[in-house]
Amino acid sequence: MTDSDAALPDDHQLGAQTLWHGRFEGGPAEELMAFTESLSFDQRLWPDDVEGSRAHVRGLATAGIITETERDSVLSALDTVAAEMVSGTFVFFPSDEDIHTAIERRVTELAGAAGGKLHTGRSRNDQSATGVRLWLKRELRVIAGRITALQHVLLDRAVESGDTYLPGYTHLQRAQPVLLAHHLLAHGWALGRDVDRIRDTLVRVDVSVLGAGALAGSSLPLDPMVTAADLGFGSVFENSLDAVGSRDHIAEALFDLTMVAINLSRIGEEWVLWTTEEFGFARLDDGYATGSSMLPQKKNPDIAELARGKAGRIIGDLTGFLATMKGLPLSYNRDYQEDKEPLFDAMDQVRLGLGALTGMIATATFDTARMQSAADSETGSATDLAEWLVIRGVPFREAHAIVGALVRTTLAGGGSLRDLVTAHPQLGPDAATLVAPGVSVTRRTTRGGAGPAAVADQLVRFRAALARWSDWAAGR
Ligand code: ARG
Repeated sequence: MTDSDAALPDDHQLGAQTLWHGRFEGGPAEELMAFTESLSFDQRLWPDDVEGSRAHVRGLATAGIITETERDSVLSALDTVAAEMVSGTFVFFPSDEDIHTAIERRVTELAGAAGGKLHTGRSRNDQSATGVRLWLKRELRVIAGRITALQHVLLDRAVESGDTYLPGYTHLQRAQPVLLAHHLLAHGWALGRDVDRIRDTLVRVDVSVLGAGALAGSSLPLDPMVTAADLGFGSVFENSLDAVGSRDHIAEALFDLTMVAINLSRIGEEWVLWTTEEFGFARLDDGYATGSSMLPQKKNPDIAELARGKAGRIIGDLTGFLATMKGLPLSYNRDYQEDKEPLFDAMDQVRLGLGALTGMIATATFDTARMQSAADSETGSATDLAEWLVIRGVPFREAHAIVGALVRTTLAGGGSLRDLVTAHPQLGPDAATLVAPGVSVTRRTTRGGAGPAAVADQLVRFRAALARWSDWAAGR
């Protein structure tokens, strides 16, 4: 559609004109169009541009700037544009620099002179900024909905895992056993903060900038409050320079998406490890794994790896756009057109990644025996032994040293920890019961802790929080 070699139909001379043709003697150079066009990526904003244009044209009629007949003929042309976009019959011209130009050009073809009034009191600066805000309001909620879908899978798998436990790690070294449910919900809570962040960002996205004009408002009796209410925005810009000259809400949305991507990358890395022969904690369903073109025995966790890998590119979307914004003088600068590709890319990749990881986790099989035997090393109960001594009046530092010495002896081949504990004058047979498989995890009883009773309480709170996150994402 931006192929500048494509011939223009003779009967569409309007299409060959730029929006600024009156001031210019010559037309735009091919290289200018090739370098500056945004239609190739801002086409997806068409529903938002149509919606913004409908509100604007109604505002023009309310202000008495156009007649009701003119308004209706523009509205019906916009309906035709929407129908053509949906059916794929909308014809783009090489001179359509962006989606806004294309739609206004088509409206003018359809509505004649009335179409020529659509852009009254409006600039593409407030128009495109409005479109992206409308788009963000819709798409960020879609992301929130996808996040809650993943959280539901984590919750279901947590519930179904019962009292299954696995090693908990710090420094990726086995530390203390934790319930599998506890581990899965840890990711669930982090994702909940992502939903909260998106919700908070939307307060700053949900501001109408239509009516700011190119940068300074208008001499016409337009009311930005009217179009803001028409478009369902929560608030209206206070300063026209700021309205068209700021993109911090986009940087913020990009950060929110980047944080989701980073959370997904951490889940991905874990599943890469869990599905190795070395860990063997989980097996992927065939539908969510890939094979090797050469090695017949392979089953690869590509979704998990790309959840990890794509986070890098999404971080690039954020940092690249931050660099674009830096040092820009008020108000609109064409540099801002560069907001769209990183935003669209981050949104697409995070949405796809959420869907893929959700399916992967929902369909995977846990090898609970592998998990539990990995967690059942005797030394995993070392902290329980030290705390057993603490309850009996031994200062923690001393208890730590006593148990540490026993661990050193057992690791050096001086007998099982259980036997050493049984024989120890300050510990003995009662304390030795703590070393038995499966006991340690039951002793994590504090609020938010990793044991069965604490996790049962946590599940109740997570379920309630998830209902709130899901209701909000679904617009309930
Ligand atoms: N495609 C442009 C953008 O996304 C529209 C605004 C162009 N405005 C201008 N004065 N050239 O930013």
